[in-house]
Formats: sequence, structure tokens, C-alpha cells
Amino acid sequence: MHRESAAALEGERIARASRDEIAALQLKRLQQTLRHAYEKVPHTRAKFDAHGVHPDDLKTLADLARFPFTGKQDLRDNYPYGLFAVPMRDIVRVHASSGTTGKPTVVGYTAGDIDRWADIMARALRAAGAGPEDIVHVAHGYGLFTGGLGVHYGVERLGATAVPVSGGQTERQVQLIADFKPTVLVVTPSYALNLADECEHQGFDLAGSSLRIGLFGAEPWGESMRAEIERRFGIAAMDLYGLSEVMGPGVASECIESRDGPTIWEDHFYPEIIDPNTGEVLPDGAHGELVFTSLTKEGMPVVRYRTRDLTTLLPPTARSFRRIGKITGRSDDMLIIRGVNVFPSQIEEFVLKQAELSPHYQLEVWREGHLDKLDIRVELKPEFANAGTHVSEQAARELQHHIKSYIGISTRVRVEAVGSIERAVGGKARRVVDKRPQ
Ligand code: DLL
Repeated sequence: MHRESAAALEGERIARASRDEIAALQLKRLQQTLRHAYEKVPHTRAKFDAHGVHPDDLKTLADLARFPFTGKQDLRDNYPYGLFAVPMRDIVRVHASSGTTGKPTVVGYTAGDIDRWADIMARALRAAGAGPEDIVHVAHGYGLFTGGLGVHYGVERLGATAVPVSGGQTERQVQLIADFKPTVLVVTPSYALNLADECEHQGFDLAGSSLRIGLFGAEPWGESMRAEIERRFGIAAMDLYGLSEVMGPGVASECIESRDGPTIWEDHFYPEIIDPNTGEVLPDGAHGELVFTSLTKEGMPVVRYRTRDLTTLLPPTARSFRRIGKITGRSDDMLIIRGVNVFPSQIEEFVLKQAELSPHYQLEVWREGHLDKLDIRVELKPEFANAGTHVSEQAARELQHHIKSYIGISTRVRVEAVGSIERAVGGKARRVVDKRPQ
């Protein structure tokens, strides 16, 4: 028997329970979380007080809308440990994300939090079709990033075999896939494609390898990217979503039987969709910003954490929990080019539609006078490397044309040689380079 048994059974049961039972559990846990945060975190207490709300005001799930949001700034202002709700001696681990400017955001976990995270991540792997007999190649970075260790603990909890490869050393990763014969791959989608390129380069038959499923996340990826990964790896590619502030990988993930967007593990995370401009709660099905309140976290409970991720709450399918649609972008990733809102994910869809273009791309925003300009750098696929300049020129014109007609902005497309765009080494691809004077 695996250590997860009792919790695993309960996790599987509640994921298939009635919505009424789920709502009752969520209400009870929300009340506990609000009380815990209010009593133990001075910053949260001050915010609630200033907002004129008290944990006792939460009588129904809808009452949550009366409580103030938490944002990345709250974490920065309380750097490093100010939002922890337990004494440091009860914190057994911290993670941190670097952030583009200033101080990193730090999160802390109690032993109980780590235990629940392992259970949730194990359930996510099980939902994706993995089991104790699987060998899991974990190529997320191990360290302050939640990806590596978060997935790792879930693999062990499941009773499967973890291969803690971490990021980088791509050539060696190919050899490990060939020799260790993993059946499951967990990595960012952009690094997966790097791995695929390296396999091709080494003449290793990836589509015929031991891998059968993959869980991909930590960055946005669209359906075309999924098709590309499935074709090149010969696997079923599942979406794994999460964020450090709310826990790490495993907040939501796709079920193999439906593969229709990540199921939110709603017994631990309470989701809302809001209008990112007004903060108003929107009905399920509306597109907006995803907000989470943790339901079982002790170390660092979060109340209405604004993820900045834009998506939709979808009705339950394979489980009784709601799902999220593909993350279409982040409200702070959105580029506004001469008044037109553009997300890197939109550009990606067009890049992947063109047979000659590889999925390695980067957007450069710059300024000419007062006008913002967008350049798209994209690489040719290796098999077109010697096809002559007319092929790259034609590809550039076509991409430019599609973006102009469907998104409505003029861009400069530079089709470049294989290998010229920086690669994410196990981490997240850098899709946007902002060269505008700050
Ligand atoms: O990226 C946690 C994670 C690790 C998830 C490994 C999945 C796999 P952060 O570094 O805090 O945590 O970044 C969180 O990444 O708000 C989204 O913008 C983005 N993100 C994560 N998963 C997905 C996904 C981890 N499946 C931020 N699709 C989130 C789209 C994702 N975006």
C-alpha cells in the first residue's frame, strides 16, 4: 500500500461528489481560511479592517466577493516572510519566483502543506493517466522554482518512479530518455520542443520512444502547440496548471478521459473569474481574470489571489470540479500595439500554422518616435535550413499577412536561422522582449 491511500481515496471520492457536497466543504474551508489569515497575518487583518469586512461575514460562497484581493504587490510589500500565518519553526520549505524586477516573491509551506501538495499532485498525475508502474522524467527546474520539487513529491506519492533530471543539459536528457525509458514526461511545452529538436539532431526516434504521456505547463501553450508536441513525441499531451502563490504545479490539471482543459482541484482551491478592470465577479463561462482562494493552506493562506491569468471557468466533465479553459494570456503580458491588444499566444497560433516555421519565436516591442512597433523573430524548421532565402522571405510575408488580417496590426517578421533564438533551459520561454525606453 502506498502512503497516499487514505487521502487518495478521499480525494478521488470528493472529485466525483455532488456539487452540493463540494460547495458545503468549500464554505467550511473558506471560513477556516479567512479566520486563519485574519488572526495570524497582521497585513491581512489590516486589509480586512480597512475594507470593513470580518471573516464572520462569510455566510455563503458568494460573500467572498466582499473581501479584498491579494496581489503580487502584497507579497513584495511583505518580503520575505510577512504573509506567513505560522511561526517560522513550523515552515519546512520556501519557494520563490524571481520576477522581472525587484525582489522575488516568497512562499512558505508547513509539513502539512507539503503533504497535501504531494497528494494533490499525485491525484493530478493519476488523472493524467499515470500510475505506480510509471517512470517519470521530471525536467522542470529543481530549486526555488516550484516546478521540479512540486511534481517530484507527487510522483513519489503516487508510487511511481521519479527521475529528477531538472532543466538543462539537453543532450544528456535525450540519452536519459533513451536509457531510462521513462513513460511520462513533465516539463514546460517550450522546453519539450527543444528536447524534440535535440532528439532529431541525434537521430533518436522520439515518436517511437518509451514515453506515452506528458504533462506540460508553467507557461501558456495553445492547441496547435499541443498537436505539435503529440505528433513529435507520439504521446498524449496534458495541461498542468499552477502558480507558486497558490501552491505550485497541480492547482488544476487535465484528465486523460476528457482532455478538455485543466480540472481545478476545487476541494483545495476556490476559483473566481473577475473583470480585470473593475474587479467585479463574472458568471461562469465569462472570460476574465482567474482568482484563487486557498482552502487548506496553513503556511501562507491566500485570499482572492489575482493570478493575472485570463481564462474562463467551464462546467465539470470528467470530475465534479469545474475546469479552466486554455490560458489565453496574462493581463500583464498583454501588449498594446497602437491600440490593439495582442497576446503572444495569438501570434503563436499563426506561427504554428506555417509548415516552414518552427515553434521557436520571440516578440520584440520597440518604439519609433511615439509609435510602438512589433517585430516577430521566428526560426525556420531545420529541414528548411538550406531551402534558400525565397522560402524564408515567403514565410515571413505570409505570417505578416495573417497577423495583419486576423489581429489587425502591422508587424515586421524576421525569419531566422535554426538556433538563433534563445532557448528556455528547462524553464519558461521568454516570449516578449521589451526594448521600449522605460
Ligand atoms: O509555473 C507552477 C508550475 C510548475 C505549473 C510546473 C505547471 C508546471 P509560477 O512560476 O509561479 O508557477 O508561474 C505561474 O505560470 O500564473 C501562469 O501565468 C503560468 N502558467 C502555469 N501553468 C500554466 C499552464 C508555476 N498550464 C504562472 N498554462 C501562472 C498557461 C501557465 N500558463
